[in-house]
Amino acid sequence: MSVQLTQWSKKIATGNKEIDEQHIGLFQTFIDFIAASRGNNTANQLKTTLDFLMQYTQEHLTYEENYYKRCNYPKLKEHRELHSEFKQNLRLIKRTYHNEKGAIEAKKLNEMLGGWLLSHIAVSDMEAAHWIRNNPTKINFINAGLPKED
Ligand SMILES: [Fe+2]
Ligand SMILES: [Fe+2]
Repeated sequence: MSVQLTQWSKKIATGNKEIDEQHIGLFQTFIDFIAASRGNNTANQLKTTLDFLMQYTQEHLTYEENYYKRCNYPKLKEHRELHSEFKQNLRLIKRTYHNEKGAIEAKKLNEMLGGWLLSHIAVSDMEAAHWIRNNPTKINFINAGLPKED
């Protein structure tokens, strides 16, 4: 059975160029990892794609947290906890691959990673973007380049 992979779409564009580009990259890395998990890849190739996904994720989440902090986003603490949850999921996947190669099905991976990513961006990142747009500070305008909403 084929799995409909979760993808980035304009519907979840935050309007912040940097963050949107990172989200697109994150989905692509995730798709590459799922593809690697389904193909005839060696454990080593799989490890390389998963390591890359973990590193990319780490960089993006740190970037976002620093950015929200500079914007004085009031829900940063909650947002950070959601990020930790995702990192924990990735570590769990890594451990599983380490112990029993190929044990996680693409469908399950898609739910754990793609599903989380999509709902996190659609709800929490969008909420932050909305707040930042409506609470302009010098840094918000410089970094987001966003027009204020009416
Ligand atoms: Fe994000
Ligand atoms: Fe986020």
